[in-house]
Amino acid sequence: MNTAQFKHAPVLHAEVLQHMNIKPDGCYVDGTYGRGGHASSILAQLGANGRLIVMDKDPDAIKQANSLLSADSRVTILHDDYENLSLHIADLGMAQLVDGVLLDLGVSSPQLDDAERGFSFQRNGPLDMRMNPEQGQSASEWLAQAEEAEIARVLWEYGEERGSRRIAKRIIEAREEGCVDDTSTLAALISACIPKGKNHKHPATRSFQAIRIHINQELEHIHNVLESIFDVLTIGGRLQVISFHSLEDRVVKRFFKKHSTRPQIPRGLPVRDSEIESNIRFSLIGKAIKACASELKGNPRSRSAVLRVAERTA
Ligand SMILES: C[S@@+](CC[C@H](N)C(=O)[O-])C[C@H]1O[C@@H](n2cnc3c(N)ncnc32)[C@H](O)[C@@H]1O
Repeated sequence: MNTAQFKHAPVLHAEVLQHMNIKPDGCYVDGTYGRGGHASSILAQLGANGRLIVMDKDPDAIKQANSLLSADSRVTILHDDYENLSLHIADLGMAQLVDGVLLDLGVSSPQLDDAERGFSFQRNGPLDMRMNPEQGQSASEWLAQAEEAEIARVLWEYGEERGSRRIAKRIIEAREEGCVDDTSTLAALISACIPKGKNHKHPATRSFQAIRIHINQELEHIHNVLESIFDVLTIGGRLQVISFHSLEDRVVKRFFKKHSTRPQIPRGLPVRDSEIESNIRFSLIGKAIKACASELKGNPRSRSAVLRVAERTA
C-alpha cells in the first residue's frame, strides 16, 4: 500500500502547540503519531538539543514516520502501543524528564479511508479494524466465535447501541448462514436490524465504533497510559489528550479530576489541611477545548474533538 496517498488533517493543531509550552531544548512525546501533523509542528519549534519521541501502533504510521523523520537525530520513532510509553521512556533514560506528552486518541483519517483496514462502513473491505494488523484478533475473527451475549455487551458498552441485542442475534444467525467477514456485509446486517436515526447518522456508526474499541482494547490502554504518566512527565510537564467520544473523554476527565482535586473529607471531621495527604499532582489548564468555527467548517472530524490539558505540579 502507498501510505502517502492517505492524508490526515490534525485537529486542534494551533491549540495543542500553544498549550505545549515548547522549550527549544525540551523533550516531547507524541504517543499517537498518525501522519505526524502535530509531531512535525512540535519538531519545527525544537532547537538542536531538543528531543521528540513519536509512537504509534499502526505500521503504516510508523512507515511514514521513518521515511520523514529517521534522518533527524533529535527524533526517536517507536512502533508500539502507548500503554508501554513509560517503559520506553525509562529505556531511553528519560523517566520523569519529559516536558510534554500529546495523545490524539482514536483512528486517523488514513485508517478510515483505506478500505483494506476495515474500519469504515462506507468502504467495503475485510472486517479487520486492528490498529496494528500484525497483532491480536481481527473483528471478523472475533465475530466468528464470540457468544451472542458478549457481542451484545460490547455493542451496548462501547457503542451505547440500543439495538445491541437485536444486532447480536442477527450476527449469530448470519454467521450460521456464512461468514461475516467484510465491512459491507456487517453494515447491511446492522442497518436491517435498527430503524434509521433522525440525526442522519449511518445506523452502523455506533456498532462499528463499539467493535473497534473492543478489538483494540482502547479504553484499557488509555487508562494504562494515563496511570503511568507520572513516570514520564517532569514537574511542570504538560499532558494533552484529545478525545473523540464520550467514553474516551470520561476516562480522561476522571483521571484529571482524581489528580487535580483534594480528597473528599466528611464535613465536621477534625482534620487540619496539613493533615490531609494531598493527592494533587496536576493543575488543569483551562477548560475542555473544542474546535473553533473555522476549523469545524474545514475539518468535519474536529466536530467531536475535545482537548484537555494538565500540568504536572507534584
Ligand atoms: C487521531 S490519529 C493521530 C493523528 C496525528 N495526531 C496527526 O496529526 O497525524 C490517532 C493515531 O493513534 C494511533 N493509536 C491509537 N491507539 C493507539 C495505541 N494504543 N498506541 C499507539 N498508537 C495508537 C492510531 O494508530 C492513529 O495513527
